Amino acid sequence: MGFWVHTSLSFTAIALLHLLVLVSGRKANGARRRSETGTSDFFNGRWVLDESYPLYHPATCPFIEREFSCEKNGRADQDYTKYRWQPHDSNLQRFDGKEFLEKFRGKSIMFVGDSLSRNQWQSLTCLLHSAVPTAKYNVTRVEDVSNFEFTDYGVKVMLDRNVYLVDTVREEIGRVLKLDSIEGGKLWKGIDTLVFNTWHWWNRRGPSQPWDFIEVGGKIIKDMDRILAFEKALTTWGQWVNTNIDPAKTKVFFQGISPSHYNGTDWGEPRARTCVGQKEPLLGSTYPGGLPPALGVLKSALSKITKPVTLLDITNLSLLRKDGHPSIYGLGGRTGMDCSHWCLCGVPDTWNEILYNFLL
Ligand SMILES: *[C@@H]1O[C@H](CO)[C@@H](O)[C@H](O)[C@H]1NC(C)=O
Ligand SMILES: *[C@@H]1O[C@H](CO)[C@@H](O)[C@H](O)[C@H]1NC(C)=O
Ligand SMILES: *[C@@H]1O[C@H](CO)[C@@H](O)[C@H](O)[C@H]1NC(C)=O
Repeated sequence: MGFWVHTSLSFTAIALLHLLVLVSGRKANGARRRSETGTSDFFNGRWVLDESYPLYHPATCPFIEREFSCEKNGRADQDYTKYRWQPHDSNLQRFDGKEFLEKFRGKSIMFVGDSLSRNQWQSLTCLLHSAVPTAKYNVTRVEDVSNFEFTDYGVKVMLDRNVYLVDTVREEIGRVLKLDSIEGGKLWKGIDTLVFNTWHWWNRRGPSQPWDFIEVGGKIIKDMDRILAFEKALTTWGQWVNTNIDPAKTKVFFQGISPSHYNGTDWGEPRARTCVGQKEPLLGSTYPGGLPPALGVLKSALSKITKPVTLLDITNLSLLRKDGHPSIYGLGGRTGMDCSHWCLCGVPDTWNEILYNFLL
């Protein structure tokens, strides 16, 4: 793959050595940090049917957006809500919303990214509200930032809609996607826990592409290799993290690449053109279609950041969940076909359960 050759050639030997030291250092305080207490790797595992799930019933969460309200939109099967993620060599602690609110008293968590971030943000607000339904809450929105505040606890669960992390600016020539500029980061300062995500919008073309030009390295261009653009933006974001994050105050996570299911060949069912009608996950630990190439780019970009960033490596476990999407029970209803977002309750609750285990 030309891309990899390009990136590896652009390193000097010293940078590579530096990188190796950082990667091994990060492993020690990342996913393997809690190995003393029996936690080693949350992301390798399998899905098991567990009748004590879901963690909440959708009816106890009145504010789930229509886009994710599969049951309300007519989805009748229930099993997809009852799978629990079981790591191979550790156990996840069950999400406890009351404990979360107590421990997080006076603190803020912000999801930054596209609609997959909104999916995870809604899941967390449901997990918390259904655990303590009498706790007062107040939802406000100022421009792109939504704030779901549990006022009795002073806990803010926030969402900043920012699909590229780097800036898109309206200029005389048109809308410019600036790969080296990250002014939007001013909204992320002072937050206690940040969970970033970007990927799905990098492949947009035509009318749904929200920019006309790309600015990179001081040049304005019409377009470029999208994977390379994604990598440049992640580098800019990584520099923002290095410059602005005080690890004593703020924990930084990256959501990882949330996979879509539009081609049954990927899960060994070549006749399936979409995810519609899928009622159970793949029950093993491997996904025949393999991992999306963007994940490799993301991992490489994360390995170059000097401040601690934890990858919520949800790609593998979500790939197995061809049954977790709204399909015809999403925003578009019977005429839509959403195999990108996730039903709530559902898969993002597991992402948050893993996040909770990191934050405990
Ligand atoms: C909700 O938040 C808004 C904006 O911060 C504030 O003006 C309002 O008083 C809050 N309401 C409650 C019930 O706390
Ligand atoms: C599904 O994926 C397979 C294997 O990558 C590919 O050959 C096929 O063309 C794809 N089908 C569609 C409808 O995109
Ligand atoms: C996912 O994780 C399993 C181990 O749990 C591994 O065998 C597999 O290769 C990983 N990747 C994919 C795409 O399945």
